[in-house]
Amino acid sequence: MTAAVPAPRFFALIPAAGVGLRAGADCPKQYLPLAGKPMLRHVLDTFAGCPAISHTFVVVSAGDTLIDAVVGDAMGCQILRCGGDSRQASVLQGLHAAREFIRDTDWVLVHDAARPGLTIDLIERLISALRDDPVGGLLALPVADTLKRAVSSAADQSQPSSVTRVEETVPRAAIWAAQTPQMFRYGLLRQALEFALEHGHAITDDASAVEALGLQPRLVEGNPRNVKVTLPHDIALAELYLKGSV
Ligand code: CTP
Ligand code: MG
Repeated sequence: MTAAVPAPRFFALIPAAGVGLRAGADCPKQYLPLAGKPMLRHVLDTFAGCPAISHTFVVVSAGDTLIDAVVGDAMGCQILRCGGDSRQASVLQGLHAAREFIRDTDWVLVHDAARPGLTIDLIERLISALRDDPVGGLLALPVADTLKRAVSSAADQSQPSSVTRVEETVPRAAIWAAQTPQMFRYGLLRQALEFALEHGHAITDDASAVEALGLQPRLVEGNPRNVKVTLPHDIALAELYLKGSV
């Protein structure tokens, strides 16, 4: 008799070890208050409210003094103090630290602490689209803007500062903007991030590590409210979405 294969579970992993340089706030952006609670707490509460998610791991840097107060009484959440010097390193080190709780065939939903507008509906849309997929995938949005490739001319005597011009218009028909969560099986995601590390690939999301293995992650349509807070003006926009004003 063969042993029954356990049904895959769904875990959330939140990289939150960044300093938020570009947001220019006086604390790491994930701790900024937005619509009544810290940005990161919105994310933790959304995953806690999603019945499909077994547990949430939040990855912070070793010296983080703000995380305990933010996690507080959040349900089903564990802090991993193993953040690295890039998002990619924080995710990989978080996967290593969570090893004893997660099987290779379980799904991991990696979601940036800097996207507080995520909803339970979006998590459920991603899971139902991908739960039987051989690769996994991510939330993303088809790009609506017309795209230009830029070229900058060097400054010279006739032109004291460099000028940026359009080199070409890039067809946008097949272009999507990646969001998070990005959802892959634990074993595949860990293998992909270890491969990227070994080969010195600098990547800004998990899907591109999986792509470097020759696989094609699936795109699942997200929502503009799942905006990433990167620059100062994104903070007000994220807050409008959280307050339901837009
Ligand atoms: N992140 C992380 N570890 C790092 C860098 C980033 O866990 N060493 C996390 C951030 O906390 C954030 C997500 O990865 O939740 C996306 O990164 P980004 O938006 O670039 O955040 P920061 O690196 O904090 O911002 P900046 O690049 O402006 O400094
Ligand atoms: Mg960064």
